Amino acid sequence: MNAAVVHSFDAPPRYETFADPIPQADEILVTVTAAGLHPIVKSLAKGTHYGSTGQLPFVPGVDGVGRTPDGVRVLFGSSRPPYGTFAKRSITRRSMCTPLPDALDDAIVAAMINPAMSSWAALAHRAHFVSGENILILGATGCSGHLAVQIARRFGARRIVAVGRNPRALEETKSLGADATILLNQDRDGLVSAFRDEISNNKIDVILDYLWGPPAEALLAAVVQKGLDHESRRLRYIQIGNSAGPNLSLHAATLRSSGLELIGSGFGSVSMDKIFESLRAVLQEAAKQPFRIKLAAAPLRDVEKLWNSHEHARLVFQP
Ligand SMILES: NC(=O)c1ccc[n+]([C@@H]2O[C@H](COP(=O)([O-])OP(=O)(O)OC[C@H]3O[C@@H](n4cnc5c(N)ncnc54)[C@H](OP(=O)(O)O)[C@@H]3O)[C@@H](O)[C@H]2O)c1
Repeated sequence: MNAAVVHSFDAPPRYETFADPIPQADEILVTVTAAGLHPIVKSLAKGTHYGSTGQLPFVPGVDGVGRTPDGVRVLFGSSRPPYGTFAKRSITRRSMCTPLPDALDDAIVAAMINPAMSSWAALAHRAHFVSGENILILGATGCSGHLAVQIARRFGARRIVAVGRNPRALEETKSLGADATILLNQDRDGLVSAFRDEISNNKIDVILDYLWGPPAEALLAAVVQKGLDHESRRLRYIQIGNSAGPNLSLHAATLRSSGLELIGSGFGSVSMDKIFESLRAVLQEAAKQPFRIKLAAAPLRDVEKLWNSHEHARLVFQP
C-alpha cells in the first residue's frame, strides 16, 4: 500500500510503499480517507514524545477518518506500531472506533479531533469544570487554543481569558468567545501584573496551559501570594502542551502560598475510555453546531514536502 514512512528521527517521512497491516484477533482494517498532522504526530516522528517506541521504520499518524470493511465511516485511533494513519490502510480495535455523524466532513473531523479533545478531556475529566467558572487559556492562538476558547464557552465558562504571542490569532479569539486577551510579547513585569490581575481580581478557577516554558513561569509567578494570613482560592492548572519548552523552574512558595493544583491532561493521565468519551462528545457537539477551525487539506503523496511547512492551519493528508 502507499504510505508515509518515517525512516529517521531527523527527517520527514517519505511517501512510498509499505507492507499492508494484517489485523489480529481484536483488530479491524480501516481504509483511511483523512488524517491530521497534529503536533503529537510530529514529535512521535522525531522520537521526542513520551509515547515514542524508538523503533524505525514506522507509519506516522495517531488518529484518522476512514471506512471499516462493512462500509461504516468512522473516526479511529491507530492501535499498533508500525502502522499509523498516514497510509491507505490502517488497523484499529473496535473499541477505538466511533461512527461519524453524517453532518461532519472527513477532513474537518481529522483536523479538529485531536486539538478539540485536548480541552474537552482536560475540562471534563481533569479540571472537573463547573459551568460559571472562569478560565485562562495559555497558548490560545494555535488550533488547540482556538478550539479551547469555543469549548470553554460551550462548557458554560463565565469569563474566558486568551493568552498568546501572535497578535492576529489572539485577536481572533475574541470572535470565538474570549472576553479578554493578554499578549505575551510585553515586558515581564507587565505580563506578570496582567496575569495577577486576572488570577486575583477576576478570580480565575482553571488554567489550560498549551505552552509551559517561560510563559508558564511568568504565569506561575503571578500565582504566588504574599503574607501569612491570607486564604487562597483553589486554582486548577491543567498542563496540556509544551509549545514554548519542555521545562520550567518552579519556586516552592508558588505551591505553598497559593491554592494551586498542578494537573496534567493527555495520553496516560486520561484513560483511553475517557479520551474516547471526550471524542464522542466533541463529535456530537460539532454536529449540533460546527466549531471554527482553519484547515488545509493535501494529498498524502505531498507529505515529505509539506511536513515542516508552517501553515497557520491544521494540515490534513488524504491518501
Ligand atoms: N495533551 C493533549 O491532550 C494535547 C492534545 C493536543 C495538543 N497538545 C499539545 O498542545 C500544544 C499546542 O497544540 P496545538 O494543536 O495548538 O498546536 P498548533 O496549532 O501548532 O499551535 C501552536 C501554537 O503555539 C504557539 N507557540 C509556539 N511557540 C510558542 C512560544 N514560544 N510562546 C508562545 N506561543 C508559542 C504558536 O504561535 P505562533 O503562531 O506565534 O507560532 C501557535 O499558535 C502542543 O504542545 C501539542 O503537543 C496536547
